[in-house]
Parts: sequence; C-alpha cells; structure tokens
Amino acid sequence: IFLKEYNTFGVQAIANQFVEIQDERQLIELYNSGIFQNRFFVLGGGSNVLFTTDFEGTIIKISNKGIQHFIEGNNIYITAAGGEIWNDLVWYCVDHGFPGLENMALIPGTVGASPIQNIGAYGTELMDVMYTCRAFDTLTGEFKTFTNKECGFSYRDSIFKSKYKGRYIIVSVTYKLNLHSVRNTSYGAIESELAKRGINNPTMKDVAEVVSFIRVEKLPDPSTIGNAGSFFKNPIISNSQLNELKQSFPNIVKYSIDEQHSKVAAGWLIEQAGWKGKEIGNVAIWKNQALVITNKGNATGKEIFQVSQEIIDSVFDIFGIELEREVNIL
Ligand code: EPU
Repeated sequence: IFLKEYNTFGVQAIANQFVEIQDERQLIELYNSGIFQNRFFVLGGGSNVLFTTDFEGTIIKISNKGIQHFIEGNNIYITAAGGEIWNDLVWYCVDHGFPGLENMALIPGTVGASPIQNIGAYGTELMDVMYTCRAFDTLTGEFKTFTNKECGFSYRDSIFKSKYKGRYIIVSVTYKLNLHSVRNTSYGAIESELAKRGINNPTMKDVAEVVSFIRVEKLPDPSTIGNAGSFFKNPIISNSQLNELKQSFPNIVKYSIDEQHSKVAAGWLIEQAGWKGKEIGNVAIWKNQALVITNKGNATGKEIFQVSQEIIDSVFDIFGIELEREVNIL
C-alpha cells in the first residue's frame, strides 16, 4: 500500500500491509493473528510522522469513531474514540458550551494521538484536560485504562513516547472539563488578536476562532502544503547556558520553566541561523514560522530529514543548543 495520502508531509513510501481499525475489538483479532509480533506502526492522522524509507511491516490506522459526554455537577466528562479528528472534538465542546479545549483548536491529528505527545498550543496542553485514556496493550492483548498521572506527561512527551514507545494503542480518551473554567487568553498572540477585534469578554467560540485564525496565518495548511507542524521541540536549557547566550544574543526568545531551566523558542534560533523561508531543492522552511519544514511537492522523506539535520547542525554551531525532532522519523 502507498502511504502518501496517509501522512501530512505527503511523502511517498510503501508498507507491506495496512489495516484500518473501525472498532477496538478488531485489535484483539489482530493480536490473535500474531500481527503485533512483527514490526508495526500505529497511525492516526499522520500529522507527526516522516517516512524516510519504505515500511517493512504493518501500518495500523485507527479510525474508530464516537463522542459521548455526561455532566456531573460542574464537571463534564467527554469520551472520544481514538479515530475522531481532534479539531472536531474541540468544536463539539465549543458547540456544547464545554470550556477547556478551545486554545487547541485546529491542531491537526486525531484524538488517539493527543496523549502520546501531550499536544498543546496557545497556553493549554492535553495534560491540563485529560482525565483517563483507554489503551490496547499489544504485548498482552488486553485493554488498560491510564489515569492522567500514570501517563507521565511533560512538554510534548508521555510514557507512550518514552518508556512504552510503540507498545500501547490509544483507543479512546476521556477529558474532564469544568463548566465554570475561565478563558485562558494569556498567550500574547491571542490577547492581541482579541484586542484587534475589540473583544473584551471572549466566549469559547471567540477564542477557538482567534486561535484558528492565528494558526491559519502562521502555519501552512497540510491539505495543500505538505508539513507536520513544528518539526522540532522548543529546547529546554539551563539558566546558566541561557545567561551566557544572552551576552551575545540579548533578544533570544525564552520562557522560564523553573529556577534552573528555561525553554527557548526553536523557531527564533532557526530564523537567526538564516533558515526562515529558505528553499533547498524540494524542501522549504516555512516563511512565517521557521519551526515548520514543508514539502514543496515532490520531496522525499530522506530529503526532508537531510535538511532537518543541516538545521540541527547549524543551530548547534551558532548557539551550542542541540535541537530535538518532534516528528516521528520512520
Ligand atoms: N519565532 C521567531 N521566528 C520564527 C518562529 C517563532 O522568532 O520563525 C518566535 C516568535 O516571534 C515568538 C516565539 O518564537 O516570540 C514563539 O513562537 P510561536 O508562538 O509561533 O510558538 P512556537 O514556540 O514556535 C509552539 C508549538 C506550536 C504551537 C505554538 C503556539 C512547539 C514545538 N510548538 O510553537 O505547536 O502551535 O507554540 O502555542 O512547542 C506543533 O507542535 O506542531 C505546533 C505547531
């Protein structure tokens, strides 16, 4: 099977076998057929993966559907199937008047992928709203429910990406929201866009719309320009390294993490290194956001990977910071 239409980078690759899951019970059949004893990879929306070579194994696409909620006091529990489109869930909540997901509007990908790398944007992360997730254990063939705490979330990371990498398949996620939680508009870009529109008391819908607007302005639409959002993570460095860097680069963009550490905007580093808007063969660094690498049309995964390596090397040469890829490389 050809994978071009199953990854938002739009690169071509071939997999030996491809299975689409519409119902979680199919996973038990797959387990019994022994598929998980060989190489496999679980795909949601394909918005965080780069195929650099053909895939010798089975691609398992999670496409189960369904969203339900119940309200208990001020709490709303929403359970969504792993194959639901993340942005559809955001709008389900906005339309029902359930606050908490609106800052994460328009993040590409599926519900099932949301806990894996603790997706986040504009001041909210998945870990702020996830209650539990239900996962299939490909090692034992059993389903297991993980609490928020058990997922070991941190910035763009969870146990599903580290300790248990590749082991569990998320089949549904339950979010716990609060009817009275207030809008979080502290992220600069949201505040200024709301102000431009003369909105003082934003509704959930206002925030979701503003966030979507900012994303569309800044980020290339994967349905027309192949990309996987931020290609790199924002690196976390020690404050002593930061203070040294500030001597030569007083404008460095940083956020405080704790007393010893700060997070640095990788987009800023990459832009300073001269990459923003640059085109290298079939690959381009996005003109409005240097964290995003795009496929101009006919790029191979290898070419994109090669460019990402050149970026890592040049940022390291200038700043002594080693960027880490956020995208899964296969
Ligand atoms: N910046 C530059 N040049 C650039 C890009 C950014 O100087 O080319 C500066 C901006 O001016 C700003 C700062 O860097 O001062 C931060 O930029 P931005 O608000 O665009 O956010 P980001 O840190 O680059 C992160 C997430 C995005 C998320 C935004 C908004 C990561 C790796 N990326 O990007 O997530 O949408 O914040 O919350 O954490 C994704 O993960 O795929 C993704 C798009």
